[in-house]
Amino acid sequence: MKAIILSGGKGTRLRPLTYTGAKQLVPVANKPILWYGIESIVAAGITEIGIIISPETGGEVKAKTGDGSRFGANITYILQDKPLGLAHAVKVAQPFLGDSPFVMYLGDNLVESELDLFINKFKTKHLDALTLLCEVENPTAFGVAKVDNQGKVLQLIEKPKNPPSNLALVGVYLFSPTIHQAIANIKPSARRELEITDAIQYLIDVQKNVDSFRLQGWWLDTGKKDDLLAANQIILDSCLELTIEGEIDAPSKISGRVHIGAGTKIINSTIRGPVTIGDNCHIENCFIGPYSSIANETTLIDADVEHSVILQGAKVINIHQRIVDSLIGERAQLKPAPKRPKALRFMIGDDSQIELV
Ligand code: TTP
Repeated sequence: MKAIILSGGKGTRLRPLTYTGAKQLVPVANKPILWYGIESIVAAGITEIGIIISPETGGEVKAKTGDGSRFGANITYILQDKPLGLAHAVKVAQPFLGDSPFVMYLGDNLVESELDLFINKFKTKHLDALTLLCEVENPTAFGVAKVDNQGKVLQLIEKPKNPPSNLALVGVYLFSPTIHQAIANIKPSARRELEITDAIQYLIDVQKNVDSFRLQGWWLDTGKKDDLLAANQIILDSCLELTIEGEIDAPSKISGRVHIGAGTKIINSTIRGPVTIGDNCHIENCFIGPYSSIANETTLIDADVEHSVILQGAKVINIHQRIVDSLIGERAQLKPAPKRPKALRFMIGDDSQIELV
């Protein structure tokens, strides 16, 4: 079995961060979202992985992720010239996939599940497609499946006005090579994309075996800022361990599960976990509250931060109002405020400079 991870696309929902970078590389708990997918695929024993990239962000994805050796996998990069849909990405990957069954994983999704269980069902039932489904409160915002009481998929509808169920399609699928035939038979949708839901519906219509697997754990599509903060919270809650590699001076107080990277200096500050702080950061006179991820080479002086993600090289200096629910881009700078506003809520793009006056 092989796997493809879709890491192209436009990333419009995470602008401005995605003007300058791939959304799949935005970190969750200081690790690119994309890498969680790779790790999960490798943990299921699949090592032949194709990553779909776009001309705009492909170079960055490649440079950061490498040839796969760090994951124990063999990664092939597959260029999709334009984001013409999820099924179009499969079409572009066909030479890589050959006649192998495969996992398709959306590179901006985070899924808590053992892929093994999913793969076992696919193999034992000799399926043509297996979709992963999760109950959601707002099915109108998703691709939704109508299933019978055995879980067999009867119909898929993209963002339905009157949803037949509350079961949304999660961004992980399993396919046999018959999907290529289905994709060859579908036409672009109203938004001019080749939709994977249409290709799966084609399989259903020609009586192929399309089944579903109900996800019990959590699933996050990290397309938007609040999704990303929620993903950060869940990962920090479930995966973080206490590891201190940097230096902490005597007046500083550290409590809970906290990671402090190598070369980082914590001076006269309180860090209340779960919090992860990368390498070579300077944290002085700060309060860093729960569910914060601070990337490498960040400077925080006289600042209070909670439930926020701060990307590499950002500087936050002399901001005494607590920064909450914020996503601060790479190298962004927040400078002192002479008068104190009551609250601050940010989504700041890479290289932005904000001065509060
Ligand atoms: P989407 O989130 O559906 O699309 P998008 O990246 O264009 O995002 P936005 O809505 O923010 O503009 O894509 C899901 C994943 O699949 C994501 O990792 C991007 C990737 N993708 C491709 O690789 N090729 C494509 O043609 C499309 C549409 C998406």
